[in-house]
Amino acid sequence: MINFINNLPKAELHLHIEGTFEPELMFNLATKNNIKLPYQSIEELKKAYNFDNLQHFLDIYYKGTSVLIEEQDFYDLTYNYLKKCASQQIRHVEIMFDPQSHTSRGVNFETIINGISKACLDAERSIGVTSLLIMSFLRHLSEEEAIKTLKQSLPFKKNIKAVGLDSSEKNNPPSKFQHVFLEATKQGYIPVAHAGEEGPSEYIWEAIELLKVKRIDHGNNALNDLDLIDTIKNRNIPLTICPLSNLALKVVDKLEEHPLKKLLDSGLEVTINSDDPAYFGGQLNKNYIEIQKALNLTKFDLYNLAKNSFQHSFLNDDKKEQYLTELEVYYNKNK
Ligand code: HPA
Ligand code: ZN
Repeated sequence: MINFINNLPKAELHLHIEGTFEPELMFNLATKNNIKLPYQSIEELKKAYNFDNLQHFLDIYYKGTSVLIEEQDFYDLTYNYLKKCASQQIRHVEIMFDPQSHTSRGVNFETIINGISKACLDAERSIGVTSLLIMSFLRHLSEEEAIKTLKQSLPFKKNIKAVGLDSSEKNNPPSKFQHVFLEATKQGYIPVAHAGEEGPSEYIWEAIELLKVKRIDHGNNALNDLDLIDTIKNRNIPLTICPLSNLALKVVDKLEEHPLKKLLDSGLEVTINSDDPAYFGGQLNKNYIEIQKALNLTKFDLYNLAKNSFQHSFLNDDKKEQYLTELEVYYNKNK
């Protein structure tokens, strides 16, 4: 089964590039950029990775981002992650980035987007991993700040496919960002949002009705509301589920209690993702392996999850077809 997962062609649709920051690179960049991290060593930093909830994680995650200064830093962060994709048979990835956690420290939008975009381009050429970018607004900040960020992004519109909404969910409902999402959609960005990770099912309703999202990031709490499940199904909106993230942030107590199987059984389109792999104890393949074990998923389930990941990507139809055909061939040979 582990071999089957490791070699399964797949896509990752919920991944924060700042969440791929390995401690070694973080410390190297801190030294290079002369920034003091509040940890003496890699070991001390890793000890802090024991989270009570989303906010506790975010506090540590934003400290890590503070050492990213130059274009090359964003390039290195991104390229390191894309190499990991290639080794896990991740054919395609949709990368979220949080411009506000960098522009708020004086880093130019251009520096961020150029570093990330160049790494994506190089990785596609040299290791064959395709990618696109999702610019995420930090929901603990105001809508005005998000509008400022949207404006900063417009000269780089060709590099960004979608907009997202992340950070502290509780008390920061999607309705707070209606105007900026409407404007972003007019500009051609595809809307997605984190909803129902720690927040209630009402936030998922708001993301669908008010932000018009095409995908829900997490969405675990949809299970509490049968009408919502029907709506998500009827509108063919996928959920990007992140098992090890949910475990690390205590959204679930045990993987055995994870709602993924119930969501699948309710007929929802679900994908498996790593969210912030450097912090949550595993890359994408580990997420597949651990949730397979915990919920006793079959090869057919795993094939369907990988199929969903390509089908619900924002790739063009030709490229989707190419990856889906490759997956089909793989499954027929290895089932
Ligand atoms: N939830 C919300 N915001 C985030 C996350 C998450 O899991 N990871 C990085 N930013
Ligand atoms: Zn996330």
